[in-house]
Amino acid sequence: MKSVEEVFKKISKVGQAEKVRVYVVGGYIRDILLGREGNRDIDCVCVGSGLEFARSFDTAVKQVGSLIEFPDFDTARYILEIPNPKSQTPNTIVIEFAGARAESYDEKSRKPIVAAATLEQDLARRDFTVNAMALPVELLTKKVTPTILKIQLIDIFDGRKDLENRLLRTPLDPDTTFSDDPLRTLRAVRFAGQLGFSIEPGALESIHRNRARIKIISGERIQEELLKMMTTEKPSIALTLLFQTKLLDEILPEVSALRGVEEVFGHQHKDNLVHSFMVVDNIAEQSEDPWLRLAGLFHDIGKTGTKKFIPKVGWTFHGHEHLGKKLFYGISKRLKLSKERTDYIAKLIRWHLQPIGLMDEGITDSAVRRLVVTMGDELDDLLILGRGDITTGNPNKKVRRLKNYDNLKNKIAELLEKDKLSDFQSPLRGDEIMSLSKLKPGPTVGRIKSAIEEAILDGIIPNEYEAAKGYFEKIKDKYLEQATDWEKM
Ligand code: CTP
Repeated sequence: MKSVEEVFKKISKVGQAEKVRVYVVGGYIRDILLGREGNRDIDCVCVGSGLEFARSFDTAVKQVGSLIEFPDFDTARYILEIPNPKSQTPNTIVIEFAGARAESYDEKSRKPIVAAATLEQDLARRDFTVNAMALPVELLTKKVTPTILKIQLIDIFDGRKDLENRLLRTPLDPDTTFSDDPLRTLRAVRFAGQLGFSIEPGALESIHRNRARIKIISGERIQEELLKMMTTEKPSIALTLLFQTKLLDEILPEVSALRGVEEVFGHQHKDNLVHSFMVVDNIAEQSEDPWLRLAGLFHDIGKTGTKKFIPKVGWTFHGHEHLGKKLFYGISKRLKLSKERTDYIAKLIRWHLQPIGLMDEGITDSAVRRLVVTMGDELDDLLILGRGDITTGNPNKKVRRLKNYDNLKNKIAELLEKDKLSDFQSPLRGDEIMSLSKLKPGPTVGRIKSAIEEAILDGIIPNEYEAAKGYFEKIKDKYLEQATDWEKM
């Protein structure tokens, strides 16, 4: 199969042979109507068994792709590749085959209850009217024209009108739709941010009313939606809706707690929730990476628990980078983040004050070197976060701070070039330290190596082999005196 139209042709042929009517529904149809190209996730509703249809399709296309079966739900996923005219790498198409069904969550259980249904019932049990439109698969075998859409679109709930009005509305009573699957409350917020749609007022109230139901949804699925929110052009749109509906209190109370301004003797601190949302938007202007944007959302969560008013000093948040890191481990556990992502975000939270601190305290070579070595691969991301953290409302101050920040970045780049500090390690390696000092592997070798590294970072010696060896000769006796007998060769 060379194109998505050919894929639809095959599905249509199998449908005729098996006497099963097949409809393409949901996001694929929505995106055609929105003129958004490139959606390669195709949802097919089969009036009959989705799983059996997928098996027949797999046989008919001679197992060209891979079939993943979900017998408990009578659905299957088919993944195949088609050529990409714009690149050597093929395009992956993911087709979900499902029998027409009505699916809902029981009051308490996390497992959905699935029952067979007609196409109309199936569409009624979907999340939003804009996602509840369908086209018979035969009509997608050629480019879909506006006339086809006008005459053939199955649109029982006026999804097309809502799409034109940029409105997210539920096909049924919103309490039913959201209670059927509480993840949809997050999807509403995400679509609003992603597509720039508003949520119909009744649905918005219902999201607020049903917010606690999100508790039955797994951490992984919440994580996925949050990440999709982070991928939008201006993540603060979805984040603000999360806050307004109080979904944020349910899924990220640590972030919600940042809301508010306190005043003591006329001294106010800034609203840290508003600040955090601004930081995420600022990062989004500099980087596409949703994980870095998420780190921006969490960077100040330690502020609530460390806030203190000190007379003559003002509001302080001492140690919030440490408390923030600790709190974040709790979030990571709930959202089931991988270890790699957890370490990445925790590191950015821990060190986020560093670049701005450098700017304020003077940019010395040794401080810059320490930052470079501490951050390693995450240095560029920390610098993006640090720049995004400049949110002062005073325009002159902002220009000045951003300019200073860019100076800092230039200084780091210069020093990196000069020192060749990436992958930093003592140029005198452990093996050589051992043979020169006649030591076996042990703590003393480590101490000597660290002392050489510290001297380089402090600018006492350059990052070069000869200098490191000379320094070693100078300091070695002091360390050898402390070595235990078992370390000596
Ligand atoms: N759907 C639903 N309720 C959900 C998830 C999905 O009703 N909690 C329905 C919607 O009709 C949706 C379709 O299943 O359009 C496909 O779901 P999915 O692929 O997750 O979403 P898309 O709408 O395609 O959008 P995206 O890929 O951006 O999530």
